[in-house]
Amino acid sequence: MSKTLIVGNWKMNGSLAENAALLQAWVQARAGQSAADVAVCVPSPYLAQAQGLLAGQRIDWGGQDCSAHEAGAYTGEVSAAMLRDLGCRYVIVGHSERRQYHQESDDLVALKAQRALAAGVTPIVCVGETLADREAGRTEFVVKRQLSAVIHAVGHCSSEMVVAYEPVWAIGTGHTATPAQAQAVHAVLRAQLQAATAHAQRNRILYGGSMTAANAAELLAQPDIDGGLIGGASLKADDFLAIVAASPTRA
Ligand code: PGA
Repeated sequence: MSKTLIVGNWKMNGSLAENAALLQAWVQARAGQSAADVAVCVPSPYLAQAQGLLAGQRIDWGGQDCSAHEAGAYTGEVSAAMLRDLGCRYVIVGHSERRQYHQESDDLVALKAQRALAAGVTPIVCVGETLADREAGRTEFVVKRQLSAVIHAVGHCSSEMVVAYEPVWAIGTGHTATPAQAQAVHAVLRAQLQAATAHAQRNRILYGGSMTAANAAELLAQPDIDGGLIGGASLKADDFLAIVAASPTRA
């Protein structure tokens, strides 16, 4: 079993000064030496800053999205190879905000995951149902459809990716899924990975959606919750460090 993985997702927040203060606080608190693996996904313009401040600190950094194209005339896009060039270990793909505001389809997300793996960057593949899906009893159908597109595209490389279950209704709302609700979906995703790859025990499945220092320990204690993808609480050093500190030690 891998260590718990706690990943900050700053979304479109930050400035050179704010980022430096936040990352320096993590470094000073020795977040890289904790029981959990720690990483942060920053806006592209700040990747070089993250690299400068985090290199050698055992805290990884990553992007929040990458292009489905390899290189070329795609103004405004950032390739997975560029992220790798900036030392990124991870890239988030298929976040619900990209699916919702940029009409990203399951197939596009799958291509992005494929590009990331080809460039040597671990994709953090986000899946999650809307409130309407949940109320219609479609949660399992939706998350399986989203993950299946990626598994199909990346094939035997599936064991190299991280999955994040982020119920859309829990993101930034303060309405966290209960540990039982989250665990039930994580178990479905685990079974799906197990059916696809012989190495599914390597996949870490993160929970994301209003995770805070107050609810992290209970969520992270669930058997199939291997870490967290943290939005709002990753913007405050103390809150994020408290989630890292609440992470269980795993072999
Ligand atoms: P939140 O965001 O922690 O602010 O709910 C999580 C995410 O969107 O990754």
